[in-house]
Amino acid sequence: MTFPSDFLFGSATSAYQIEGAAAEDGRTPSIWDTFSHTPGKVLGGEHGDVAVDHYHRFRDDVRLMADLGLEAYRFSVSWSRVQPTGRGPAVQRGLDFYRQLVDELLEHDITPWVTLYHWDLPQELEDAGGWPERVTAERFAEYATLTADALGDRVQHWTTLNEPWCSAFLGYGSGVHAPGRTEPLAALRAAHHLNLGHGLAAQALRAALPATAKLGVSLNSAVVRARTDSPADRDAKRRIEALANGVFEGPILQGAYPEDLFADTARITDWSFVRDGDLAEIHQPLDALGVNYYTPSLVSQVQAGEVERRDGHGASAHSPWPAADSVAFHQTPGPTTQMGWTVDPTGLHELLVRLGQLAPGVPLYITENGMACEDKPSEDGTVNDQDRIDYLHGHLGAVEQARGDGVDVRGYFLWSLLDNFEWSYGYSKRFGAVYVDFDTQERTPKASAHWYAELVRTRELPAV
Ligand code: FCB
Repeated sequence: MTFPSDFLFGSATSAYQIEGAAAEDGRTPSIWDTFSHTPGKVLGGEHGDVAVDHYHRFRDDVRLMADLGLEAYRFSVSWSRVQPTGRGPAVQRGLDFYRQLVDELLEHDITPWVTLYHWDLPQELEDAGGWPERVTAERFAEYATLTADALGDRVQHWTTLNEPWCSAFLGYGSGVHAPGRTEPLAALRAAHHLNLGHGLAAQALRAALPATAKLGVSLNSAVVRARTDSPADRDAKRRIEALANGVFEGPILQGAYPEDLFADTARITDWSFVRDGDLAEIHQPLDALGVNYYTPSLVSQVQAGEVERRDGHGASAHSPWPAADSVAFHQTPGPTTQMGWTVDPTGLHELLVRLGQLAPGVPLYITENGMACEDKPSEDGTVNDQDRIDYLHGHLGAVEQARGDGVDVRGYFLWSLLDNFEWSYGYSKRFGAVYVDFDTQERTPKASAHWYAELVRTRELPAV
């Protein structure tokens, strides 16, 4: 199996998970600063104040990527750093950080791939209502313009949102993510205003950027399987597909919400917050669709005594799925990662084939894929993460298979470059290809980093 020379291999991170420097150079708190400093929200009371200190070590981190031969780097911009409080003019020092980072990448021939929003809303915007309110979408477009004005001369690839599902349904539904609200109506309103934010920001970016700029969004569309072929289980699958996929794919890729989503959630809302013209604002042409994939979901109609709610990023008494109490989630068969997520590359293949059909003409990029492992340096200092190598091998094989089936997949970003702050799990889950000693901040590429570097160099997936 061979990847063509223009297939882009990179790694991914996000601002709050790695930067630290939480109160430096004018940055104000985001919802994740507030949430992680609220007792009981993050395992061990951990937070991103220092994280892996990337803000001060970015030059070393870029050199690490260059040493591994990585071709692209997906990172996110901290809104609170470039536009503290989410309003008003940009702060020069915040923009300078990203300009320097991008320059450093370009000097090392690494393509910068910018995400504008990876879950860290300025706290003041949450205090004004957050994503459930329309004004947040409008603010987001302003911030997109500020960032594009500052980086547009050197960044070609732009992503509006990362995984809006998590922002809406984990942030406002199950509450395992910031801002930690547990209001089904707010979650649905947030989903719509995230969609609107995407559309308005995409238009703002088009207006501010050169015509050659490439715009996209990264979705974590779910691969949902029904436990049996019974009508009830198939209906459970349909319901979750509407809430996980249709709610974003519909408006963004096709210009309409699925009708069954309205019907399923009718007891929560009549969706009158969707105004005339919104769908046209949201349905913007895209140059790339980012696909984040980790594991499939298995669902059934709930049977007595078996309500198991799996949202993938933490446990809560509140469901992230509005009006889906009739659905039970089950562990899919197979080996699991440190997150408890089943390793199943067939889900990635299935997802790529489906999205290729749903969005014909839009190139797909895997913008996240990877696994958490209990990594520990051995006596000689090396980190032998064979499980991660196997995971990557399997999933890159699925990418090749989808390409062989004619799906236009053009790149792959490994999640993540570095071990980092894994949201409500704090620093307990290690996703990096590079090991980080969180006490000393020392970085050590794991065996998987060397394996990946070799793949990037040879373009060949080795036989197992
Ligand atoms: C994704 C997030 C990313 C990281 C991985 C494991 O949902 O986008 O920040 O947490 O999961």
